[in-house]
Amino acid sequence: MNHAWTPTGLFVTATDTGTGKTTLASQLAAALHARGSCVRVRKPVESGCAHDEDGNLLPADALALQRAAGERESLEAVAPYRLSAALSPARAAALEGISLTLDKLERACLVGGRQGDFLLVEGAGGFYSPLASDGLNADLASRLRLPLLILAPDRLGVIGHVLLTLEAAARRGLDVAGVVLNRLPDPERPAQLDNATELSALTPDTPLYSVADTDGMAPLAAALAEHLIR
Ligand SMILES: Nc1ncnc2c1ncn2[C@@H]1O[C@H](COP(=O)(O)OP(=O)(O)OP(=O)(O)O)[C@@H](O)[C@H]1O
Ligand SMILES: [Mg+2]
Repeated sequence: MNHAWTPTGLFVTATDTGTGKTTLASQLAAALHARGSCVRVRKPVESGCAHDEDGNLLPADALALQRAAGERESLEAVAPYRLSAALSPARAAALEGISLTLDKLERACLVGGRQGDFLLVEGAGGFYSPLASDGLNADLASRLRLPLLILAPDRLGVIGHVLLTLEAAARRGLDVAGVVLNRLPDPERPAQLDNATELSALTPDTPLYSVADTDGMAPLAAALAEHLIR
C-alpha cells in the first residue's frame, strides 16, 4: 500500500490481554497532547464492546484514547471496527459477519495523518494475538513499521513471555521502544519476585520500565512523551 505519510509513533502491544495497554496509552496520548503534539490515536479494531441504550457499540478503550488525545478526531476515525463478542477481533468479526483484513486496518490507522503527527496505535490482546482474517497484531505492527511499546504483567512467569515477544519483534525487524512491567494486583505474588532485575540482565539493551500501580502510569507517560518528542 502506498501512503504519503510515513508515520512516527508507537504500536502499543503486550504479552497478553488486560495488561495495561489502554491505561498507559491514554496517559501517553494526554502527555503528548499536552506537549503540543498532534496525536492520532487508533484502536483499529475493538471487540467486547457493550451496547448503549440506542444499540450503538461503545468501544471503551477507544473512548478513553480519544478523550486523552483531546477529542481531535471522531470515534469513527479512532475505532472504525467495533465488535460485540468479547473474543479475539478475528474471531468476533467472523462471527459477526464483518470482513476484517490487514489492508483495512492499515488504512484505518493511516487515514487523515500528516507528516509530523504522532500515531499511537493500541493493538488487541498480545503481539501474536489474531487481529484480522489474514494476520496477527504483529503483522499490523510490521506494516506500520512503528516501534513497539510492550506491556507485560509483573508476575511470576512473565520473563519467558517477554523474551518470546522480543524475539518475535526482532524476527520482524521491529524496534522496541520499551518493555513496561506493570504490577497488577496479585495476592499470590511471591515476596522475592524481582522480574525487573532478572529481565534487565537478560536483555540489557532493551529499555525496561516498571510501574508499581495505576498511579505510576502518569509519570512514566510523561517521561516517555518527553523522550519521544524531544
Ligand atoms: N498497575 C495497575 N494497577 C492496578 N490496576 C491496573 C494497573 N494497570 C492497569 N490496571 C487495570 O487493569 C485493567 C486492564 O488494564 P487495561 O484496560 O489498560 O489493559 P489492556 O491491555 O488495554 O486490556 P485489553 O487487552 O482488554 O485492551 C483495567 O481495569 C485497569 O484499570
Ligand atoms: Mg485495552
